[in-house]
Amino acid sequence: MPASRKPISLPRLREMHTQGEKITMLTAYDATFAAVADAAGVECILVGDSLGMVCQGLSSTVGVTLETMRHHTDCVSRGLRRAQGTAWLISDLPFGSYQESKELALRSAVVLMQAGAHMVKLEGGGWTLDTVRFLVERGIPVCAHLGLTPQTVHALGGYRVQGKTEVAAASLRREAHALQDAGAAMLVLEMVPAALSAALTLELARCPTIGIGAGLDTAGQVLVLHDMLGMNLGKMPKFVRNFMEGAHSVRGAMEAYVRAVKDGSFPVNASHAW
Ligand code: KIV
Repeated sequence: MPASRKPISLPRLREMHTQGEKITMLTAYDATFAAVADAAGVECILVGDSLGMVCQGLSSTVGVTLETMRHHTDCVSRGLRRAQGTAWLISDLPFGSYQESKELALRSAVVLMQAGAHMVKLEGGGWTLDTVRFLVERGIPVCAHLGLTPQTVHALGGYRVQGKTEVAAASLRREAHALQDAGAAMLVLEMVPAALSAALTLELARCPTIGIGAGLDTAGQVLVLHDMLGMNLGKMPKFVRNFMEGAHSVRGAMEAYVRAVKDGSFPVNASHAW
């Protein structure tokens, strides 16, 4: 990472997308890992509700509360500040904190923004459009999340690839365009066929796509921190690479991740995508 990286901002992320420079994102849940990821050159840190599984030992993200997200966002934000970090900090709105109404979503988003988030992420399309517009109009940057949306894993019938049929792909595509039009400034695509996410990435000029199990041709990539360090309490998803292999430190593994995303050697469509 250049010694004097300027704070990562939305215009900078859009510029990277326009110029074809890959955006790197990792999850982090505490001050130290966040600071190390920032020092390794990761541009975006996501306080993901995956912390339910990773830190709390839950079997899904459904049990994660807003108070837990606030606490971890606060820890990560403090770590970044202490290390004079420059990463863009995104925090997940947890299950139940935004579904009821756009007003509730605003109140929940305010809690995360006041804990130090620069942007909030919420899952789903269609019914979320009014909420996304409501938050964006009130100055809260929003990252959308389509494909496999872990908060609705029970409705989806498990952790499986989404958008595989023509009908499902067309619906996902419509939702992605509508989310961009509603003002979403970033879109996570999780477990979506590589060809579909590549097409969407070209189509969505104002909303960089960040893939996880969505192939090589998204505007950026995200992984769950513990997964890419080779630690998982369950089965390692197919789209993960263990960056600790061959690295001498956690920072080294993160630097290898940043290099691999930037030079296009991760992910590999043949082994990490559908
Ligand atoms: O919670 C999380 O870690 C996420 C990523 C998987 C994108 O939403």
